[in-house]
Amino acid sequence: MDERARAGASPRTDYLRVKDLHVTYRTAGGDIPAVRGASFGLAPGSKLGVAGESGCGKSTVALALLRLLPKSARVSGEILIDGEDVLGMKWGRLRAVRWAGASVVFQGAMHSLNAVHRVGDQIAEPILLHEPRTTPAAVRRRVGALLEQVGLPPARARAYPHELSGGQRQRVMIAMALACEPRLIIADEPTTALDVMIQAQILRLIDSLVGDTGISMLMISHDLSVLADTCDRLAVMYAGRIVEEGPAQQVFDDARHPYGAALSAAFPRIGDPSSRRNPHGLAGDPPDPAALPGGCAFRPRCPVVQDRCAAVDPVLWPVGPDRAAACVRVPSDDDARAAGVPAGADAASPGMPPEQVARDPNGAPPITRPEETR
Ligand SMILES: Nc1ncnc2c1ncn2[C@@H]1O[C@H](COP(=O)(O)OP(=O)(O)O)[C@@H](O)[C@H]1O
Ligand code: SF4
Ligand SMILES: [Mg+2]
Repeated sequence: MDERARAGASPRTDYLRVKDLHVTYRTAGGDIPAVRGASFGLAPGSKLGVAGESGCGKSTVALALLRLLPKSARVSGEILIDGEDVLGMKWGRLRAVRWAGASVVFQGAMHSLNAVHRVGDQIAEPILLHEPRTTPAAVRRRVGALLEQVGLPPARARAYPHELSGGQRQRVMIAMALACEPRLIIADEPTTALDVMIQAQILRLIDSLVGDTGISMLMISHDLSVLADTCDRLAVMYAGRIVEEGPAQQVFDDARHPYGAALSAAFPRIGDPSSRRNPHGLAGDPPDPAALPGGCAFRPRCPVVQDRCAAVDPVLWPVGPDRAAACVRVPSDDDARAAGVPAGADAASPGMPPEQVARDPNGAPPITRPEETR
């Protein structure tokens, strides 16, 4: 039976579907496995947040979705946008899908905008690329409308990037991303370089644009609390792998994976002054992807590590309605049912060996087997 149906979730047709994505950078110093079997889906009009510490592979996933990775990257797995296989796409089709099918808002607009061109011309570029017959007057009107949509006066089209503030530049980047009316926006740390007040404005803007237009959004951030506020679902990454996935507020309030729990505890809760006084940080640093520890990659930092964690590298499996986690202490739905405990409860109790069979939480057949440490 379909795992989603088994987990009590309704089946859905995802606009974006990623299955068992692996990305390895080849460098002179050796291979860097930056993404190790990521699988997730994004329903039309919904918002998925991807969180995790720096270096866990978030940007690599974002770049892989539209084949924007450098040549040194070796990619395998499956990426479907509206059912089309991105990794097998011919160049012409890929160009059409970029901007119109999905577009990216990167962090740090100053580096992404061309310093010697007026911002209006830069917003016009993707429009002309996709609709070369558009008249100059129509392009000007469209650029003006896009600037208004992101809260800037149309006259700012004549400005150069250095004449705008950081927040205004990021608004220009969002206008560019919207230029070809994409059905998916991938926002990679869109507010990281901005001060707190402007961050909030930009997030509100993205939220309202996505809400108004019904487009889907994949938003990447190291800040779980921002994602929990903005997104419907959350995926938590650690060392190139998604270790937890589920409804955003549930993952934030009640993470199943010890890393998800530690990450969430690091952020103060609105309305809970004790959490503000007492945020829990996570000791240690994420592992070097080129030298991962054997077994579970979170093992050296895990507060509840067990002996068996050295022997297995867990992958995501369903741990409750519409939720998935990758930890040997969290039983799969089937294990929980067999033992008569609520799915997703802590599996530390004796007699609850988790079934080490990897399943795709979105309903596909098993995707990867956990790698036993040799
Ligand atoms: N072009 C590259 N060449 C080699 N290694 C890279 C490259 N880009 C990223 N990496 C490495 O891949 C890992 C994941 O990086 P990245 O996807 O940027 O993480 P995040 O966005 O979560 O901070 C890191 O160890 C990073 O150093
Ligand atoms: S598998 Fe073990 S080390 Fe990894 S998160 Fe779970 S308890 Fe911690
Ligand atoms: Mg990044």
